[in-house]
Amino acid sequence: MSGGGSLPAGAPPAPRAPPAPPALPAPRAPPAPALSARGARIAGGGPGLLDAGFALYVADPFDRELNPQGILNFGTSENKLCFDLLEERLTRPDMNYLEPHLFQYSDTRGTRSFREEIAKFLTDYARAAKALNPEHVTVMNGCCAVFATLSTVLCDPGDGYLIPAPYYGGINSKTWLYGGIQPVHVPLSSEVTDKESHPFQLTVEKLEAALQSAKKQGIRVRALILINPHNPLGDIYPAQLLKECLEFAHRYELHVIMDEIYMLSVYDDTTFTSVLSLDCLPDPERTHFMWGFSKDFGMSGIRVGVLYTRNNEIRKAVNQLAVFHSCPGPVQHVLSQFLRDRDWLDNVFFPTNKKRLKEAQNILVDGLADVGIPVLKSSGGLYVWADFRKFLKSQTFEAELELWQKLLDKKLLISPGKAFYCYEPGWFRLVFSNSVDKIYLCKWVLLLIWQIVARKF
Ligand SMILES: Cc1ncc(COP(=O)(O)O)c(C=O)c1O
Repeated sequence: MSGGGSLPAGAPPAPRAPPAPPALPAPRAPPAPALSARGARIAGGGPGLLDAGFALYVADPFDRELNPQGILNFGTSENKLCFDLLEERLTRPDMNYLEPHLFQYSDTRGTRSFREEIAKFLTDYARAAKALNPEHVTVMNGCCAVFATLSTVLCDPGDGYLIPAPYYGGINSKTWLYGGIQPVHVPLSSEVTDKESHPFQLTVEKLEAALQSAKKQGIRVRALILINPHNPLGDIYPAQLLKECLEFAHRYELHVIMDEIYMLSVYDDTTFTSVLSLDCLPDPERTHFMWGFSKDFGMSGIRVGVLYTRNNEIRKAVNQLAVFHSCPGPVQHVLSQFLRDRDWLDNVFFPTNKKRLKEAQNILVDGLADVGIPVLKSSGGLYVWADFRKFLKSQTFEAELELWQKLLDKKLLISPGKAFYCYEPGWFRLVFSNSVDKIYLCKWVLLLIWQIVARKF
């Protein structure tokens, strides 16, 4: 009998074989990632310290009536001193103009009439060596967009650009998100030496050293970015230094991106030299200028920035991308009218703005001096660069962040040097273009912190 034959009569039924377990589903391949490698790189960017501070403020903004315990914002570079003037000018009847063409597709570089007004305005206010050509103007939704598009068309992923540090840290993400480009720092120091007359002075030797060191690391450097008036230092490049930097860039065939977004926020008698005013540029085809409405006109919410470049090829490429960054027709109309009113700009807006900037700067600087905090001498921008080093527990960036957090706990937002890639811990940027009563509140918080910190020494 084979093992598979019938059972004898009366024998208990043979135990049933357990049912076969259900077949396991074939192992599934892990789901494809939602993001491309490029998407993952972009998502992985994370906010910088400036963005992180701003997000905290947005969640809990100070308001004398509605939220008196909220955060006082001395961290974001905005000019809030002239809203009364803007409100009066922007509600006059000439602004109230609705025509179908403003609501239809138009030239993505900006309408011809807006570019003409911008060219005339910059010719006069940047004291341009010769009249700017409206065909060389591209309008976008802010200088951030100008940085993103220009860096994308000038560099390949992995390329570098030289930038003196400290600098406006937002540039990193603007050049990284689309273009995948990296900064090559030119570290500046607060120490004054025989050769350097003031702290954080830029020299061509420092540019040269940073360039050579990047080359040794295999980084292809394609551009030099200069911010003038400087953010966060608030100083202005003397014409001679500017020319030396342009010549240096020309020697190495580097593009120069001149960010002059604070060009008209100069509040003392220092002479400001725009790159547009130089009549003999070493390399005009590689020299690019940007400016916008965010700072000099206190309109950071209107989102308009301008690129001026003489280079046809570059304009062609940037203008392709401008389709993603164009500016609404009605906004272009309003700002054209605004720039056209020279009488109001020259006799009302600019003199009042300059006076208010200077007053606010004095109040903040005096308030900081009362608490024992020196600031760097500055002539432009909306902020001061203040030396908090003696308030640090130790001369480290950890201690700098600890102090930043302590101030935030007391509801004061200022910006730590690390957010600007400063190489020395203990420097902070404080924006003064705020109402006088808020500046006094800021001083009051600093006094409180000073007492807490002083007790620990
Ligand atoms: C030096 C500098 N460039 C560019 C920008 C960005 O300007 P926009 O508001 O036109 O995008 C800022 C904003 O803080 C800035 O400080």
